[in-house]
Amino acid sequence: MSFNRSAHNEWATLAPFGTDVRYFEKCDSTNTLAVDAGNKGEKGPTWFVAGQQTAGRGRRGNTWKSYDQNLYSSYLFRPNVALSELAGLPFIVSLAVRDTFIALGCDSKDVHCKWPNDVLIDEKKANGILIETSAASGQLSEFVVIGIGLNLNGYPKDNEYPATSVSQQLSSKIDVASAFKVLSHVLDIRLSKWTPSDISMVTAEWSKSAWGIGTRRLIKTTNESFNGTIVRLESDGGLLVHLDNGTEKCLYAGDIFSTIPAG
Ligand code: BTN
Repeated sequence: MSFNRSAHNEWATLAPFGTDVRYFEKCDSTNTLAVDAGNKGEKGPTWFVAGQQTAGRGRRGNTWKSYDQNLYSSYLFRPNVALSELAGLPFIVSLAVRDTFIALGCDSKDVHCKWPNDVLIDEKKANGILIETSAASGQLSEFVVIGIGLNLNGYPKDNEYPATSVSQQLSSKIDVASAFKVLSHVLDIRLSKWTPSDISMVTAEWSKSAWGIGTRRLIKTTNESFNGTIVRLESDGGLLVHLDNGTEKCLYAGDIFSTIPAG
């Protein structure tokens, strides 16, 4: 892990007032750093940002590879809400990522939110979000870490779901610090408006730019894979799907794929 004081001072000016920023040229994972800091009692709000991750972590145990000039960041904070009230967070963070891509120059018509927390540009995955929490008493979240990776200038070519970068879409290099500045501010604004006990406003806004509603898709959960038509995002964050066998299912975890294998 390499910590650079002058880079740290420079990055500290980018986030909203009152938010600390720790910048590392290289670390294993900014989420791991943030979770460790949370476990040691750091209050936050604090951003952990890295130029490169050697052990980036993705959802469902996947690894998150490092590419030069992408953003690797994790936000540690203590929202003091029940674990059951965190359901809206993935949608708030996805909307903040969407805001960021649009602020960087992407056409809003091309930027869609894919359940549960991906943002697509031109139908391709351009980010990753990994939210981790600790529960002190099993009821209240002691701290929350929001990990956000943005494909600014690099992206995997061998992803199970096709990927892209902002740079690829706009045909110009993206400045990582500028992108972080936008992201940290839009997330701050969105979190300040968050009402954990009622996320219907957030799910309604997310639904307006949702990808795949009304279309038949392949859905994978931890235990099963099935085809179904995506009906809507429910006001509690669940995804209602109409299965090919005529039944309906509300999903709270899983992944959606655009292609349905023949047969
Ligand atoms: C996904 O699988 O789509 C989520 C990927 C999340 C990656 C980000 S990069 C910054 C933070 N640190 C990590 O190790 N993971 C998250």
